[in-house]
Formats: sequence, C-alpha cells, structure tokens
Amino acid sequence: MSLDAATFDSVDDVVARFAQHGYLADDRLATTVFLQSRLDKPILLEGPAGVGKTQLAKSLAEVTGRPLLRLQCYEGQDESTALYEWDYGKQLLYTQLLREKIGQIVGDATTIHESVERIAHEDSVFFSERFLAPRPLLEAVRSDVPVVLLIDEVDRADEALEAVLLELLAEYQVSVPELGTYAAEHLPYVVLTSNNTRDLSAALKRRCLHLSLDYPDAERELEIIRSKDTGLPEALARTLVDVVRGLRDLDLRKAPSISETIDWARTLAVLGAKELTAEILAQTANVVVKYDRDLRRTLEVLPKLVDPNAVVPTSRDRGHQHGPGSGHSHGHEDHPHRHDDHDPEPVRDPAGQERRAAKDEPGRHTAPNYGIAPPTRSLDVGRGQGERSFHTRGARRRPV
Ligand SMILES: Nc1ncnc2c1ncn2[C@@H]1O[C@H](COP(=O)(O)OP(=O)(O)O)[C@@H](O)[C@H]1O
Ligand SMILES: [Mg+2]
Repeated sequence: MSLDAATFDSVDDVVARFAQHGYLADDRLATTVFLQSRLDKPILLEGPAGVGKTQLAKSLAEVTGRPLLRLQCYEGQDESTALYEWDYGKQLLYTQLLREKIGQIVGDATTIHESVERIAHEDSVFFSERFLAPRPLLEAVRSDVPVVLLIDEVDRADEALEAVLLELLAEYQVSVPELGTYAAEHLPYVVLTSNNTRDLSAALKRRCLHLSLDYPDAERELEIIRSKDTGLPEALARTLVDVVRGLRDLDLRKAPSISETIDWARTLAVLGAKELTAEILAQTANVVVKYDRDLRRTLEVLPKLVDPNAVVPTSRDRGHQHGPGSGHSHGHEDHPHRHDDHDPEPVRDPAGQERRAAKDEPGRHTAPNYGIAPPTRSLDVGRGQGERSFHTRGARRRPV
C-alpha cells in the first residue's frame, strides 16, 4: 500500500483497493486508472448507462480520500454553471446597502457620462473574489487539496461546453478576466463519462485516456452481485445473471444494466424466492424493464431464458405460464436463447438510429446535480457586468 493514498503502486494495487471499496475493476479499467495517476491525464469513459462509469469516479474519490466535485452535464448548458459566475444577488444587495455611499460618489457629477465614469472607477470592487461564485471546474482548480473532478455525461452538453473543457483539460487552469488566471496547485484526477449519445470531439478524446466500458462478462457481474450482499442465494444469482444477459440480447429500448440486476436480485431475495421460475421473474420484471413494449417482449421470452426447452406460450394463453425454473445456468458465449427466430416486431431500424434516439430519454437531465436549475433560470446573469472571456465564442444554444 502506498504511503500517499492518492498514488497507486501497480495495476494490482488499483484492483485491490477499489475492491475494498466495493468496486470491481477489470484489468483494462485498473490499468487506465493506474496510468491516470502516473500521467496526470483525464480519463474518458464511454459506454451504455449503468455499467459503472459514474461509480468509478465516486470510488476513485473514496479510495484516494479525495473530495469529489461533480459537474453533471445537460443540453443547453452554459459555461457559467461549469466555470464560475458573478454572484448577482450579492452584488445587488451590496449596491443597495451602499446606496448612500454610491450617492456621495456620483453626487456632484453634472452629466450622466460623468456619473457612469465615477461608478466605473469603482467597479473592480464588485468583480472581486468576494462576488465570485466558483462552479466545479474553477473549484477543482482553486482547491487547497487535490480532488477528483467528475464531468458526468459530457455527451449531453453542447460542443461549446466541450471547448471550455479543453482549456481546463489541457492546462489545468481557468482564467477569470477580471481577476487573472487560476492554475491548479494540486492536479485533480479528472473523470469524464459519456453515454455515447453523440460523438465527442477528437480534440477532447486526444487529451484523455479513453476507455470504452461495456456490460461485464457473466462471472464479473456475478461477482458484483455477490459483493452487494443482495441476499439472493448463489445458484439463483447465477441464473439471474444469465437471464439478464439474455434480455440484453433483445432489441429492448432500454437494456437492463448492472444496477438493475442488483435491484432484481434484492427484490427476489426480499420475496424469499427459492428458485427462479419464469413466473416469479415475470412478476418482478418491472424492476428491470421500464417500458411497456420492453416488458411485453420480456414476458414473452422469460420462459425460454430460464429453460431453453420451455414452450413459449402465445399471447392468448399467457397468464398461466409453466416455467419449470430449472435454476441451471447456461453459457452465454453462443447465446442459445436468441429468440429472434420468431420476433413479433420486425426490425425497422437496422442502423439502430431510432433505437438510440429512443434511449436518449428526454428531460432526464433537466435537474443537474450541480448548480442552478438550467431550464428555468436565465444563464445570462452577470454577463455584460464584466468582460467575460467567452463573449467571442458566439451565441449558445438556449434551453428549450
Ligand atoms: N465494476 C463494478 N463494481 C461494483 N459495482 C458496480 C460496478 N459497475 C457498476 N456497478 C453498480 O452499478 C451501479 C450503476 O453504475 P453507474 O456508475 O451509475 O453507471 P453509469 O454511470 O455507467 O451509468 C453502481 O451504482 C454500482 O452499484
Ligand atoms: Mg452515470
């Protein structure tokens, strides 16, 4: 174990210490984390929802004992929620409290021009650190202690925000025109995640250690389930993992993720399931499948997933399914239970575009984890009150 909690001795050290905090990293991921700590490069994790991208950053903070700063990205996001903004409310309050004093300053001015000139002479007071409201990127750079900076779901944000990120990722510094440039005294560990709803710029990828995460193999997923103490007996957990993997092979709008496997295991344990029959799985499938069409498809194939020899009932006699619940596990390498042979819904979208668009749940990110609520509040606060470095970047897309 290293003396400094924030550095890792080896890839194995990464694996072991993450495991102690409940995160099971495979060698590829552990190598990336190890390299990050040695090369001071941000990590960019891409992959479907629920494969452990966000959790990696949280666990990295736990393992290294560093505070976690999080920037949750969303469509139409403005750099004022990422970098900093001027605390307009506080500025206003101060000007009101200082009304008399301001009155004295402009008191004997004879023209508007002269009054403005006098106030302008004092405006640096209002664009000082006292009125600066740092957001996660500036906070990470100004922090007295090294931090983990999570820039989550960066694919949700517009490319304009990516440009803002580039400056930070390249130099680990942020400039505030009125105050100067803040350079990080302690380099943060930066983790960016993307759910692949759009391609990120080559420039962003170039600055990062890039890694694609996918659903884990059956053994690792089983290990993860085991590590969460779900209370589900081992043999059942094994079958459950196989069932979930079978569901992922279907053309579902939202494939079940690791967290859903965990939820399903907990649910079945709470119900005291002794064996995994198609019936009990069907009763609880709504824990993992959240769309009607997906649920219908799931209910159709469940009997075959728990027992490849089962006769799949037609929609007419569904309701009294006879799943024997053999509880056995079957290897998924050759996917013996691909049911595409009698798929009731023809695939109309071979390129998967519709499917991806459907997966891109609207409004999912209207409530950012950090800062102010974007769609309801003007993000122009403070603009025009001081020269911002971004004025030249052009018009930004407004939230709709
Ligand atoms: N490698 C892993 N080890 C332990 N738990 C994991 C792992 N990967 C995923 N999980 C579980 O899955 C959940 C969802 O992961 P999350 O990081 O939120 O997914 P993503 O950010 O990729 O959408 C986590 O909270 C964690 O419980
Ligand atoms: Mg996430």
